[in-house]
Amino acid sequence: MSKTVVLGVTGGIAAYKALDLISKLKKKNIDVHVIMTESATKFVTPLSFQSLSQNPVVVDMFAEPKTWEIQHISLADKADVFAIVPATANVIGKIANGIADDMLTTTVMATKAPVLIAPAMNVNMYENPILQRNISILKQYGYHIIEPIEGRLACGYVGKGKLAEVDVIVDYIDMLLCKNKDYAGKKVLVTAGPTVEDIDPVRFISNHSSGKMGYSIARAARNRGAEVILITGPTDIMPPVGVKVIRVKTAQEMYDEVMKYFPNVDIAIKAAAVADYRVENVSNTKIKKSEDSFEIKLIKNKDILLEMGKIKTNQILVGFAAETNDLIQNAKLKLANKNLDMIIANDITQENSGFNYDTNTVKIIKKDGQLVQLPNMLKQELADIILNYILEIKLKR
Ligand SMILES: Cc1cc2nc3c(=O)[nH]c(=O)nc-3n(C[C@H](O)[C@H](O)[C@H](O)COP(=O)(O)O)c2cc1C
Repeated sequence: MSKTVVLGVTGGIAAYKALDLISKLKKKNIDVHVIMTESATKFVTPLSFQSLSQNPVVVDMFAEPKTWEIQHISLADKADVFAIVPATANVIGKIANGIADDMLTTTVMATKAPVLIAPAMNVNMYENPILQRNISILKQYGYHIIEPIEGRLACGYVGKGKLAEVDVIVDYIDMLLCKNKDYAGKKVLVTAGPTVEDIDPVRFISNHSSGKMGYSIARAARNRGAEVILITGPTDIMPPVGVKVIRVKTAQEMYDEVMKYFPNVDIAIKAAAVADYRVENVSNTKIKKSEDSFEIKLIKNKDILLEMGKIKTNQILVGFAAETNDLIQNAKLKLANKNLDMIIANDITQENSGFNYDTNTVKIIKKDGQLVQLPNMLKQELADIILNYILEIKLKR
């Protein structure tokens, strides 16, 4: 069954960005119902919101209802998440102080759904202590605030006040929509992306890992209530909101960070593609073209997963094996040699699988020999399935 977001739009210059938000939510099969303030209708017409949401837009609390229901109550009840994007200083002040004098503020007052507020305004308005006090009141009552970002504002000022990126808001809504919190209280370490080993100041050795699989796992664990630490090599994808992100470049840096956090987590999932070798002598200056052939001596990096397996106590340790041949055999060897609890075997020669794709085809192999073959699916869906199997291990212990 599709989820419902009730979206409040208020009278700020960023109101047009709420249109993009709706289209992104609709792509995720989320039902969106929009409530606009009178001021918001001065910036964007209700017709635009109605067209994109494919639902009637409500502005006037006293408009004759088309069906007999008290609309602010029915919308308040319908919401799985209530988001106000953008939120003006005015509406934040009203909600924080219990004023319900229009359709939006009355409906927020009546909802039991989680409320997400995304302020956007001039930097001086945002820094105003009254506004800040109102935000902290809302936080105290459990409202979720997605902070504005710094940038050039519509008023010409540069500072903090720009609406958070729409993708970040979508990601936050995703987290609030997930009702299953079976990872609550668990600390999960995820590694993702490639590592990069310099040859000289302009060249490097790396691999095709996009980080999508690891980021999907981090996002799914966060959605399900885990405290997530994501140690990531360089990628250009957006990390999940609410996750502690540690950026590294080389295999050695990844090793150092993993070793720092691993002893204190419940579960570690190593989805990063770590370089096996690094350049022995990295040149400080750009290497010039001279001879017809050229050799670079590589030396072995530490095997992070192996080292984790050695020091593991109660943690569940999960690895990935991206292979081009003898998939099961290689994965089983890795599982045993590195003292893992589970391995995700990934045949990267398969269509729509492995590096850079949004989808993956894998086999899950557990320590007890259980082998689960999964069909090609979105990495985000696969992430949840992997987490389900990890919880089974935890329960059996
Ligand atoms: C051109 C223009 C842009 C505005 N932009 C913002 C804004 O970005 N943030 C804000 O808090 N108020 C902004 N305001 C002021 C609000 O529109 C005003 O406070 C209004 O009462 C808000 O009503 P509402 O909260 O019911 O939507 C702007 C006003 C104008 C005329």
